[in-house]
Amino acid sequence: MNRHYHYDALIIGSGASGLCLALSLAQNFKVAIISKNAAREGSTYYAQGGIAAVLDDKDSIDLHVKDTMNAGAGICREDAVRFTVEHSKAAIEWLVEQGVEFDRRTDNHLEDFHLTKEGGHSHRRIIHAADATGRAVSTVLIEQASRNPNITFFEDHIAIDLIKQNNRCVGAYIMDQQRQRIDCFHAKFTVLACGGASKVYLYSSNPEGNSGDGIAMAWRAGCRVANMEFNQFHPTCLYHPKAKSFLITEAVRGEGGLLKLPNGERFMQNVDDRAELAPRDIVARAIDHEMKRQGLDCVYLDISHKPAAFIRQHFPTVAKRCLELGIDITKEPIPVVPAAHYTCGGIVIDDAGRTDLPGLLAIGETAFTGLHGANRMASNSLLECLVYARSAADHIRGTIDDVDDINHSPGWDESRVTESQEDVTISHSWHELRQVMWDYVGIVRSEKRLKRALNRISLIKQEVQDYYRNYRISGDLVELRNLVLVAEIIVHSAINRKESRGLHYNLDYPNMLPDSGDTILCPPDFHSESSMGFIDGKTP
Ligand code: FAD
Ligand code: SIN
Repeated sequence: MNRHYHYDALIIGSGASGLCLALSLAQNFKVAIISKNAAREGSTYYAQGGIAAVLDDKDSIDLHVKDTMNAGAGICREDAVRFTVEHSKAAIEWLVEQGVEFDRRTDNHLEDFHLTKEGGHSHRRIIHAADATGRAVSTVLIEQASRNPNITFFEDHIAIDLIKQNNRCVGAYIMDQQRQRIDCFHAKFTVLACGGASKVYLYSSNPEGNSGDGIAMAWRAGCRVANMEFNQFHPTCLYHPKAKSFLITEAVRGEGGLLKLPNGERFMQNVDDRAELAPRDIVARAIDHEMKRQGLDCVYLDISHKPAAFIRQHFPTVAKRCLELGIDITKEPIPVVPAAHYTCGGIVIDDAGRTDLPGLLAIGETAFTGLHGANRMASNSLLECLVYARSAADHIRGTIDDVDDINHSPGWDESRVTESQEDVTISHSWHELRQVMWDYVGIVRSEKRLKRALNRISLIKQEVQDYYRNYRISGDLVELRNLVLVAEIIVHSAINRKESRGLHYNLDYPNMLPDSGDTILCPPDFHSESSMGFIDGKTP
């Protein structure tokens, strides 16, 4: 028998954004947090480098804004950047109040935080917990939320689609994966905090669940999606047959790590004055170029010239994992390759997290705020999660009294589906889709490759839709259905952009246009809002 639940706020996602929102609301409101796996499973837990914030007297909001805009290759929305950076200090103070312990300086300024540096930053401004910042943040926030009587966790529950009544989002259909039961969760506000979509690529730094579910659900509910062509490839994921998706934090380069070819020669200084600390799009493209030019399987990241004690103190997680695989990073270089890491685009929201659909908010990696432009600067993502979660909480607190009570919605109808005997369709399509995206929609694109990708994706989409209509739903099928849609949105966005900018590099349009903006696609037919979809102002 299907169940009906009612909450003030339904938060889909238990990463930094979802947890921060839940804790900010829980004093006064009943909150449900949904996660499709264990609560900690999401990018947040695996974040390494840290969180960018203006915390040093010699740093300034203007400098952080300027660096973010530079990394974003000319199309960050300055109002969103300023909004985020201005709230950075308060967001970190909130984390410290919750009990997150960040590294302190080891010289005689023990009361100050140790700040590290990463690509694109002109100043040391990354607050961190060694090289496992996400683990520290996630562990503390989950502990706090678990103790709060107003917050209920639903782990191993996967959201399938949003529920609408009279053009307002009133909740979501959510499958309890253990009981194989689809329930109706109703809420005055539903918040998508579902993370990104980097699992659309064959090789990724992300954990398994990042299949763009939030973006796909919002799209199907009629919300616009922006800048999906800007998929960030992290330059340095470990290259090792036994280590899937293990990241080597950019802070290794921030603390002096050098990128080298197999013969020990450096190459980044020939590409950009900032060498290893150029923004990620530039570094990833340079590595891709060297690998293709010389037919290499990987390049190398070398920090072994630094004292072993320094390396072990700053990078204990990286050092331990590499040693388990036989690589002693205090003595030898680390084999690395670029891999899909971050979705810069997402569901269009305003400063309060509002989407196009009343009652529906989106925060964190699933959302598009305008902060990242064509390339996200390192460690700005966790910051964005926290800042927008806190402003979404303000919005919900300020308006919830005006929202009418929600009626029961019709339960999920499974009367016309049967049990599948052909699950191989799902695993095959999943693999094929990721391979197509890696080969044709990767770091370097062309018109031919993008058109080829679109043809393949249309076929896969057709098969997945038939399957979805006729067979009982599983978690894998929900994710595949979302991944195919997101892949299609990415390719349409990439085809729309007739230039190369930031993370989008197209061989047929190698230059930047003098005048450009965001790519905003509207459902249901992928038409863009204007020639380049640029809209003035931030309110959707
Ligand atoms: P996530 O933390 O990804 O959480 C997503 C949540 O949504 C999960 O709980 C998942 O179960 C849930 N979910 C998704 N779909 C559904 C569904 N259909 N139903 C139910 N639940 C669902 N950024 C930085 O700023 N600094 C860093 O140092 C840094 N390092 C990184 C290192 C790695 C290896 C990776 C992968 C990313 C890193 N990033 C970093 C990026 C950053 O971690 C993420 O952008 C950020 O954590 C996203 O948080 P989130 O709350 O949006 O989503
Ligand atoms: C890293 O530690 O290199 C990841 C930082 C980020 O993605 O912002």
